Amino acid sequence: MEYNVKTIGILTSGGDAPGMNAAVRAVTRAALFHGMNVKGIYKGFNGLMGGNIKNLSLRDVSGVLERGGTFLYSARCPEFIEDAGVEKGKIACKKAGIDGLVVCGGDGSFRGARDLSLKGIPCICIPCTIDNDIAATDYCIGYDTAVNTVVDNIDKLRDTSQSHDRCSVVEVMGRHCGDIALRSAICEGAVSFLVPELEYDLERDVITKMRTTLGTGKSHFIVIVAEGVTNLRFDDKGNMDAAQLAAYIQEKTGVEARATVIGHVQRGGKPSARDRVIASEMGHYAVELLRKGIGNRIVARRGSEIIDVDILEGLEMKKTIDMDLVRVANEISI
Ligand code: F6P
Repeated sequence: MEYNVKTIGILTSGGDAPGMNAAVRAVTRAALFHGMNVKGIYKGFNGLMGGNIKNLSLRDVSGVLERGGTFLYSARCPEFIEDAGVEKGKIACKKAGIDGLVVCGGDGSFRGARDLSLKGIPCICIPCTIDNDIAATDYCIGYDTAVNTVVDNIDKLRDTSQSHDRCSVVEVMGRHCGDIALRSAICEGAVSFLVPELEYDLERDVITKMRTTLGTGKSHFIVIVAEGVTNLRFDDKGNMDAAQLAAYIQEKTGVEARATVIGHVQRGGKPSARDRVIASEMGHYAVELLRKGIGNRIVARRGSEIIDVDILEGLEMKKTIDMDLVRVANEISI
C-alpha cells in the first residue's frame, strides 16, 4: 500500500542510545528539506497517547547532533502493548495531523510501530539500542559509542589490576545479546568473556584458562560478563553475580579479584563519529521511504549499505552472535 505522507511524527522510545538525537535531527532536516512538516513527540509512545507533540523547525534540532541521550526524552510504555493503547496512538496521530511516524528504539518499540502500522499509520523504525540486538540489522545506533565507553572504563581498570596483579571481573550491558561483551573482550584482551548466547563452563572457560596463562607469566586479568549472563544464567546455577564470580575466581585461582558493574554510564555520552554518521544516514533514509509512500519498514544496515526490511519479517528474525569473532577472541586470549 502506498501512503501520502506530508507530516512526519518522530519519537524516541525504550532505553536511550547515543546517536538518537542525530537520527531525530536527520529526519527533521531531511523532511523539512523536502517541504514536509515534522512533529516531535515527547516521551515515546506515552507522549503520543497523551498528545505531547510539538512542531519541529530547522533550528529546533540545532546543537543536538553531538549530544548523548535524547532531547525528545524516552520511555518504556507497557500501555502500548495493549490494543487500547495502540488505538489511542492512532487517534492521537489523526488529531495531530501525523500521517507517517518514525520510531527510534529497540525491538519493543518496533512492536508498537508494527501494531500502529497494522491500524493504518505507516511507521518507519530506526534501530537505536546499545545492545545491538536487533536481528534485522547488522548495526544499531549507539552500539559503537557504548563499546567505546566500556573500553575507556576497562582501560582504567586494567591500570589498577596490573598494579596489584589482580583480576577485574567486569559486567557490561546486554540482557540477551553478548555483542558489547564480545567486542570489548577483544579490545581489552580479556582472558575470558561470558555471553548469554553461548554455553559455558566456569571451570574450563575461566578458571583453567587463568591457571594456564598464569603458567605462561600473565599476572593480571580481565574477565567480562554480559549482564544477561549474571542475571539469568548464574541465577540458575546458584545465584552468582559479578561480585560472587570475582570471589569464586579468587578462591579457585589464588588471584585477588574485584568486580565492577559498568551500568548505565554505557548508555550516555557523546555519540561516536560512527554513530553520528549511521544515525544521519538512517534518518535520511527513513524520510526517503515515507516520501515514496512506503511504510511499515525497519531501516537496517547490511555490510556498509542502508536497506529496509518489513517490520513483521524483521521482528521474526533471530539475532545470533558472530562465531568468527568469538573464535578470534578465544584464540588470541591465551
Ligand atoms: O536495552 C538497553 C539496555 O541498556 C540493556 O542493556 C539493559 O538491560 C536495559 O536497557 C536497562 O534498562 P533500564 O534503563 O530500564 O534499567
